[in-house]
Amino acid sequence: MDALARPIVPPAPYVHRQELPIWRLVLSTAKNSLGNWAESSFDALLGRRNVFGIDSLLVNDPKWVRHVLHANLHNYVKPPAMVRPVRPLAGEGVLLAEGPEWKRQRRMLAPAFTPASVGLLLPHFQAASEAMVRRLEKTPRVDLSEAFHQAALDAVLRALFSLPVDESRTGLAAIVRDYLAGPGRPNLFDGFARAEDDFGFALARRRTFRRHWFKAVDSIIAARKAAPAGATHGDLLDLLLAVRDPETGAPLSDVEIRDQCATMLLAGFETTSRLLFWCSYLLTLDPTEQARLRQEVTAFPPEKVASLEDLQHWPRLKQALCETLRLYPPVPVMLRRALGPDTIGEHEIGDGTLLWISPWVIHRHRAFWEHPTAFMPDRFAGKGQPWVSEPAFLPFSAGPRICIGASFAMAEASIVLATLLARFELSLDAARPILPVGGVTTAPDHEPLFTLERIA
Ligand code: HEM
Repeated sequence: MDALARPIVPPAPYVHRQELPIWRLVLSTAKNSLGNWAESSFDALLGRRNVFGIDSLLVNDPKWVRHVLHANLHNYVKPPAMVRPVRPLAGEGVLLAEGPEWKRQRRMLAPAFTPASVGLLLPHFQAASEAMVRRLEKTPRVDLSEAFHQAALDAVLRALFSLPVDESRTGLAAIVRDYLAGPGRPNLFDGFARAEDDFGFALARRRTFRRHWFKAVDSIIAARKAAPAGATHGDLLDLLLAVRDPETGAPLSDVEIRDQCATMLLAGFETTSRLLFWCSYLLTLDPTEQARLRQEVTAFPPEKVASLEDLQHWPRLKQALCETLRLYPPVPVMLRRALGPDTIGEHEIGDGTLLWISPWVIHRHRAFWEHPTAFMPDRFAGKGQPWVSEPAFLPFSAGPRICIGASFAMAEASIVLATLLARFELSLDAARPILPVGGVTTAPDHEPLFTLERIA
């Protein structure tokens, strides 16, 4: 009720009164793609535009989003603009695979992400959270963005390989972040590339990064494989080593395992750490909500969580995480390229049409949300898995290619945030608002020091 009376409207880039002319769109994309949008984008159900000869359609209508991501999935692929920056991180893993190859990989990975399998990973999330608060206790003012990045990397390293972050692995988070802020930032060449290898001269730094990154992942797998023979670790690598293709009985090859591990490392820590950062930021803007969450997690402390069902003791925490995913979706846009003709509303789609499905826009759309720009976690009250049930809520995408790690991410984020809130009161005295910047993920424009006050 309180929130409805005085909703907090957290910072977001300026929305233009009219669509930007192409030259300004190019400049704005280079600076912050979330600042490209015009008022009309948040009202229209579909919006067509030709950008330097590329026929593009903004698809906001949940009915047509599902058509693209589900009913007519096979007519759409991830375009070079999306694949090129991510390939050096994810290799040939499931995130970028297409067609029958994607289906085969997804089928083989599915057992590793069932609720039962994710339930086994909870002790890893608890260990990573405890390690994080121990690190944070050392100083009252902290860079939470960095802290969450380390914690999420720690959680995923433990979940994948039963290995905590140590000195040899701590640099991994930084090299991925540097890559995403540097050579991995989508650029104009990505936008104009018709094939993945076009404008090869612009890919040199990405190729160098790919070599370093895969070498690092190979060495982690080797370290884990060197553990005593016959030992069962209860981690994702065990599951990946055990999976067999249901049709051929073949195991995954070493390269396939490496690429899936690299994919999970990327997908598992980059997105979840962004979610944790934005949620903490929102809670500093809304101390009343922060206090309510603290009450909830103190009543059922994170160390007591023994199963996924136990997370139901924290309904408000889940609402706050969902509202964060709505306002600051870690994946701000999903692009798709049409392979053949289709019809979307009154629009004829041809081979090569580029579709923009933007959680950023859809989650702030005026036809789908009341007070769309306000932080109102109560809007998710009583919703079990809103990322599946709510048509205009797509933080994890939708359809058969919905994020395979959604329950993993929600469990991990809940435990990390609960552990932090049970131990500290968070505040931020920086006057400058933190603005989201669009790239592969939704990053903060600067990373201020948060103040943490020890509670008990
Ligand atoms: C808050 C955290 C997360 C968010 C917001 C998120 C979001 C997404 C989105 C939007 C996609 C679809 C991308 C597209 O189709 O263009 C996706 C796919 C995927 N995600 Fe996540 N993700 C998160 C965490 C995770 C975690 C923890 C893992 C694994 C440990 C993971 C693994 C994957 C994989 C493997 C895919 C590709 C699925 C496929 O194509 O079949 N994600 N994620």
